[in-house]
Amino acid sequence: MKIAVYPGSFDPVTKGHLDIIQRASALADELVVGVLNNNAKTPLFSAEERVDMIKSVTEDLRNVRVEAFSGLSVDFVRKCNAGFIVRGLRAVTDFEYELQMAQTNRSIDRGVDTIFFTTELNYAYISSTIVKEVAWYGGDISGFVPYEVAERVYRKIRDKKDRTENY
Ligand code: PNS
Repeated sequence: MKIAVYPGSFDPVTKGHLDIIQRASALADELVVGVLNNNAKTPLFSAEERVDMIKSVTEDLRNVRVEAFSGLSVDFVRKCNAGFIVRGLRAVTDFEYELQMAQTNRSIDRGVDTIFFTTELNYAYISSTIVKEVAWYGGDISGFVPYEVAERVYRKIRDKKDRTENY
């Protein structure tokens, strides 16, 4: 049984992430999407909300599981009995960081390999950060994230703006 883990922040999940999830789930027997619950970062969405969004856009993929985790990715990989980490490479700018992570993870646990998927060209420039920025200024994010995710991003940003206005 080949189990792979796709770890990330997914704040929020984008069409680029979804493409990687679809392609990786076709290669692995089981793909666990691991949503990092990191106290050091302040995400727009809670880990539960991010898990929930990924679950709803992957419900047609029978061998995909979604879970939040905290701590090291390799520990989560071990907990899932997985042998592989999946990551996407959008452009050469991702390479240095991804290589460093993959090598660090392998030096912590020799049983863990990282497999990279090259992102579809039409998603190569999309990031969760860009999605949030465009949405914050009222731009159209429907090309970047699934419809229901876009709705939730706009709603969350509206709530956030309302809260800051009321201070
Ligand atoms: O979507 P992201 O933010 O690019 O994902 C980064 C992630 C979650 C894969 C990375 O930050 C991570 O693995 N964090 C957990 C802590 C860890 O294992 N660090 C050692 C690897 S450098």
